[in-house]
Amino acid sequence: MPLSDYFSKDANRRAKFIFNLIAPVYAGVDTALMKHFSRAAKIVDAEIGIRGKSVLDIGTGTGAWAAVFKRKGAGRVHGIDFSEKMLVRSRKKHPEVSFSNGIAENLPDFDDNSFDIVTASFVLHGVKKDSRKKMLLEMQRISKKHVVIHDFSGKTPLFLRFLEFMEKSDYKNFKINFCEELKSLFFEVEKTETGNGSGLYFATTQNE
Ligand SMILES: C[S@@+](CC[C@H](N)C(=O)[O-])C[C@H]1O[C@@H](n2cnc3c(N)ncnc32)[C@H](O)[C@@H]1O
Repeated sequence: MPLSDYFSKDANRRAKFIFNLIAPVYAGVDTALMKHFSRAAKIVDAEIGIRGKSVLDIGTGTGAWAAVFKRKGAGRVHGIDFSEKMLVRSRKKHPEVSFSNGIAENLPDFDDNSFDIVTASFVLHGVKKDSRKKMLLEMQRISKKHVVIHDFSGKTPLFLRFLEFMEKSDYKNFKINFCEELKSLFFEVEKTETGNGSGLYFATTQNE
């Protein structure tokens, strides 16, 4: 994990450096995240139903978002991430979920239409539009029907704005353009505010 990776022109290399670095912090707030995420998962459950469904969580971090789906009665839940340090912690914290290393823009290990729900929590705002499109196309390919994005919406809390600045994320453009980006790729798109500067974006594929 050389420091030069933070200054790399390769956005994924820089992001991987940052997320490997902050993995211990993420692990420390995992339980608090689960509490917050449970409220959002309740909305997902009411909207599309979670019980018995297979779920793939892209950019799973320490696995808090994946784990709330399991708690809500999902069947198989699997998380992928490109940060080895995150994966070490997710495996320890959430043995009820399976995890593997993967790059969200290209997921050859997963077949077409192989999960009922493909989801990502606070991942897509972090990358530029081109990468975001690649990730969404992979999510669309792997999902039988539902793609659920949990991410920024509305006013972003101050401390998060600072973190996003350090991460050099695309969150401002994300908030402005994401619904239109989704509509250009998916059959149906719906958005629900979940409070505290976040929201749920529901998109439906025509794979079924
Ligand atoms: C902000 S964290 C969110 C973690 C978790 N989903 C949550 O909501 O708590 C973003 C996660 O996405 C992962 N990530 C970012 N870009 C990725 C990519 N291109 N491929 C795989 N994982 C990626 C990072 O390693 C990090 O764990």
